[in-house]
Amino acid sequence: MLRKNGVAATGIDPTPELLEYARKKDQTGVYLEGSAEQLPFGDGSFDLVVSYLTLIDIPDYRTAIQEMARVLRPGGTLLLANLTSFNTACEEGGWVRGENGELLHYPIDHYLEERWAWMAYRGIRVRNYHRPLRAYMGALLATGLRLVHFDEPEPTSAAAAVKSAKYRRVPYFLVMEWEKAAD
Ligand SMILES: C[S@@+](CC[C@H](N)C(=O)[O-])C[C@H]1O[C@@H](n2cnc3c(N)ncnc32)[C@H](O)[C@@H]1O
Repeated sequence: MLRKNGVAATGIDPTPELLEYARKKDQTGVYLEGSAEQLPFGDGSFDLVVSYLTLIDIPDYRTAIQEMARVLRPGGTLLLANLTSFNTACEEGGWVRGENGELLHYPIDHYLEERWAWMAYRGIRVRNYHRPLRAYMGALLATGLRLVHFDEPEPTSAAAAVKSAKYRRVPYFLVMEWEKAAD
């Protein structure tokens, strides 16, 4: 997406199968095997760092956030999208339904407790981490970056009204933009 919009980009992922898939889709793109906790780049190498739904997958999120801040140039931007923490605090399969299948409520529990759980999609099993929002915010504030934008975006698709209503009741995503002070 970034490259289609004219942004020179470097992708990082520790999962070889996903790198292979990315390289197939974008044959002239740069996709490197690596982990966010140890970015193979010098300080201040990038104008923009994007973490799109990766914090929930990263075991050592504190180090990863420090690394994201380190590789940003002064004046650069860190753009984050993550699952909301009340979402990841729901342990047992999500929505509780009524007798007719209607959505009653979305239970959350042990909110302040950091933990992980196995999640499976399309035959792929991954560890998803739950951390309270304060854990991520604490790690981000510790970098000295400045928060300049925060949102829990509302779904906009009228075509999927039922789905939209669900995500309006329990938003899935949050987005944040953090800025590194210019020199
Ligand atoms: C939910 S997927 C999101 C992938 C992609 N950003 C997207 O939206 O399609 C999470 C990604 O985080 C990657 N990941 C897992 N551990 C990581 C780590 N320690 N550092 C960086 N990425 C990691 C996974 O391999 C996976 O590609």
